[in-house]
Amino acid sequence: MTQLSAEELTLTYETNTIINGINLNIPKGKITIIIGANGCGKSTILHALGRLMKPKQGSVYLNGKNIHQYSPKEVAKQLAFLAQSPEILEDLTVEELCLYGRHPHKSLFARHSDKDKAVVEEALKATKMDLLKDRTLDALSGGQRQRAWIAMALAQETDVLLLDEPTTYLDLAHQIEVLELLRALNQKHKNTIIMVLHDLNQAASYADYLISIADGEIYQEGTPNDIFTEEMIQHVFGLNSKIIESPVNQAPICIPIGVI
Ligand SMILES: Nc1ncnc2c1ncn2[C@@H]1O[C@H](COP(=O)(O)OP(=O)(O)OP(=O)(O)O)[C@@H](O)[C@H]1O
Ligand SMILES: [Mg+2]
Repeated sequence: MTQLSAEELTLTYETNTIINGINLNIPKGKITIIIGANGCGKSTILHALGRLMKPKQGSVYLNGKNIHQYSPKEVAKQLAFLAQSPEILEDLTVEELCLYGRHPHKSLFARHSDKDKAVVEEALKATKMDLLKDRTLDALSGGQRQRAWIAMALAQETDVLLLDEPTTYLDLAHQIEVLELLRALNQKHKNTIIMVLHDLNQAASYADYLISIADGEIYQEGTPNDIFTEEMIQHVFGLNSKIIESPVNQAPICIPIGVI
């Protein structure tokens, strides 16, 4: 199973240091959720983990090898990335987008195989996009489009899934549906899932492992029960809150009090 880690990772945009020498050891086969305030560098970390950004210093390792020593195609066989705001590819249908996810598994001029079609069909069903598969992306609602991109990431059939706010644009029921889908995938295939979520209670409820980011560094990491505390939320978000236990699944829940 694919192993993802980073050592002494420093990430910058020109002279602006966003992430300062962090070490990451992403637990294999688990759901890891990254939380932190707007602009703290969550998407930047995900880009580096997905080989979409070169570190200023330090390295990301995929199965023990520096991720920049793989070709993009080799990385795409092992790792799928769903961006925070995917481009709108207007003329593409949902099904074509999903077939595009099969590219890393094909040789240059190969046609789509029966396996490709079957995997795409399953991804469309799992995301409830099968009835919309012939629609073009520009003719979908924001939430439907988000589900189409999730279907594409699933069709890529990778061990590792990186998702940057996959619940954006979704109503609450669809947010929970996507999180349940990801959890079911994780339980069935033991994929390693790393995602950024803004809803703290969803993060605490769905994460096996939580990483909180503040001031360019990892503030705390561990299980939600270990690190999801009033103190962490005060430090990372500047928010006063009360933590209670969910009567449904015993996960910690944050009740906001205020920011003053
Ligand atoms: N391409 C870029 N060029 C220059 N600065 C950037 C670029 N992308 C992001 N930044 C800056 O880097 C910092 C971290 O951005 P990043 O997108 O990683 O934050 P984030 O934690 O994902 O925030 P959000 O919760 O708003 O999505 C921000 O200050 C942002 O303005
Ligand atoms: Mg972001």
